[in-house]
Amino acid sequence: MQQKHRQILVTNALPYANGHLHLGHLVGYIQGDIWVRFQRMRGHECYFVCGSDQHGTPIMIKAQQLGIEPEVMVEQIHQEHAQDLADFHVTFDNFYKTHCPENEKIATDIFKRLQDKGQIQTKTIQQAFDPEKNMFLPDRYVQGTCPKCEAVDQYGDNCEVCGATYSPSELKDAVSVLTGAKPIEKESLHYFFTLSQHEELLKQWATADHLQPAVVSKLQEWFEQGFRDWDISRDAPYFGFNIPGESDKYLYVWLDAPMGYMASFEQYCKDHPKVNFDDYWGADSKTELHHFIGKDIIYFHTLFWPAVLHNAGYRMPTSVVANGFLTVDGQKMSKSRGTFIKARTYLDQLGPEYLRYYFAAKLNSGIDDLDLNLDDFVARVNSDLVGKFINIASRCAGFISKRFDGQLSDSLHDQALFDSFANASDVIAEDYEKREFSRAIRRIMELADHANQYINDQAPWVLVKEAGKEALTQQVCTMGINLFRVLMVYLKPILPALAEKVEGFLAIEPLQWHDAQQPLLNHSIQPFKHLMQRIDDKRITAMKEAAQQDLDSKVTAVAEDNNCIEIDDFMKVDLRIAKIVLAESVEGADKLIKLTLDIGEEKHRTVFAGIKSAYSPEDLTGRMTIMVANLKPRKMRFGLSEGMVLAAGPGGDELYILSPDSGAKPGMRAK
Ligand code: 2FM
Ligand code: ZN
Repeated sequence: MQQKHRQILVTNALPYANGHLHLGHLVGYIQGDIWVRFQRMRGHECYFVCGSDQHGTPIMIKAQQLGIEPEVMVEQIHQEHAQDLADFHVTFDNFYKTHCPENEKIATDIFKRLQDKGQIQTKTIQQAFDPEKNMFLPDRYVQGTCPKCEAVDQYGDNCEVCGATYSPSELKDAVSVLTGAKPIEKESLHYFFTLSQHEELLKQWATADHLQPAVVSKLQEWFEQGFRDWDISRDAPYFGFNIPGESDKYLYVWLDAPMGYMASFEQYCKDHPKVNFDDYWGADSKTELHHFIGKDIIYFHTLFWPAVLHNAGYRMPTSVVANGFLTVDGQKMSKSRGTFIKARTYLDQLGPEYLRYYFAAKLNSGIDDLDLNLDDFVARVNSDLVGKFINIASRCAGFISKRFDGQLSDSLHDQALFDSFANASDVIAEDYEKREFSRAIRRIMELADHANQYINDQAPWVLVKEAGKEALTQQVCTMGINLFRVLMVYLKPILPALAEKVEGFLAIEPLQWHDAQQPLLNHSIQPFKHLMQRIDDKRITAMKEAAQQDLDSKVTAVAEDNNCIEIDDFMKVDLRIAKIVLAESVEGADKLIKLTLDIGEEKHRTVFAGIKSAYSPEDLTGRMTIMVANLKPRKMRFGLSEGMVLAAGPGGDELYILSPDSGAKPGMRAK
């Protein structure tokens, strides 16, 4: 089908430059990359840009902790991210960064344009301030006791135990997580973007033409709640760009981060004069602009960003495409369970295309989470890719090279079968276009089954031994190679490195989408070499072990840092084996369980533990655990809590109470 030539710019969320990439990040990058490669194979002009997101408090603090300049830290991480992404064959035209002159100019210009239009207002706000560190504290940098349920160690914005939301000033016994100092309230003048004035614009834009249905629904909820103006300034010290005309106020990282898309593209245009920046960003642009992002940052990309773009005189996005989160073996990516797999830890053990294939086989156009089930991963790659797809070539190629000197026959043995493969081109293209990759793979694997069935039926290994069947054998094997070649066209956006090997083996130019329509005949091919290995289970075991080691080394690193306590400090803690004689729900506290503990000399010690999201009371009664018995009792709304039960984990439903080995008795002290 003849289609119109499109000009497309695709971006992927800029990874934050304060840590390693993990497999969860890869879902979006691989999704975007497959879509881009597909568009290019169709002959469209498609650019793909990304870069490092390098500003903000977490980066500034982490660099301070490492004792290096933030510029140095973000540069190191930039290199690491670029290498990881390239090694997963993510084919950006430019992987740039936000801390760069291009972005500073874009951000400053946009700020001024908004200001000239009266879209920036100032307001004095009260904010928590760390008097020791001499800096304002973002909500996540304040911890204290929840004003509602009295749970300790809660962040300044919401309580993980009872779910209450509040401002840091409402926390009891609040401390700065940076210094432990008690924050004071301090006034500061902040700049706001008048988001509340752009509801109409956003309501018109936020439709199924630009967004996935689930995202449209999410936006409806936000529309119903109404918008508040958006605070886009931060006080010094901050790692970012100065607000024009201010020396100690900065643009909030989330303002200049998406502008990094423009900066990256602008830098690309400088090196490629035929590509025009304004064609892709100008207000009356006729080209397409698609942003691929994770579903956690929908708000920034579907409300703030389009409104900022429009008001600053730029085009709005054609689409924002969100992807779900990754789970590993059904669990959230979790450091404590060893399911937190860094991109590099995977690459040290396994080829990138296995993961590209598996993600594609599970990705559709929605925003549901996606599970990397490691057994299924091995089974699927081995049976589909190697067992079905590669097998088609390996069953035919040997005969062509050994018996026919590498020469393919000059006609097809089964034109109708070839046509049925070629005719699938449009539906598979439609699947790719709509990002229904799993549906594309299902269709491709069904065709692979037909190809294998054909080879089984024709049995070239029998024909080859029969007198007078040479021509037929060559035709059958040529047919098999051609079916394989068509399927390689369809899989190429997902498996680009394999496609390159196949192009070498078939001695052909890089495959384009339309190549599926014409068979390869009367052509000489190269001897067949192994194209892809099966995954060995040992690699998976090794990867899991390495993931665990990554975690262990992190623990050691923490212990080596100056948070260490002296042995005498530790000896003050009365750690005691406790038997949970009764565990009960607490009315009015969603996250708390009331525990009655037998700790030897005392048989009824009461502790309120914030573990309800991970345990039901009935699972706990009768269990042994470990508690801090000499913690100062805390008065809570529900009663007095006299100690703390030890549990580990990131929180939420992922929390594990510690238990002693069998034989331990209530009241025994840890030594
Ligand atoms: O969520 C994140 O990791 C952000 N660094 C994404 C930024 S996307 C874009 F806006 F830059
Ligand atoms: Zn609470």
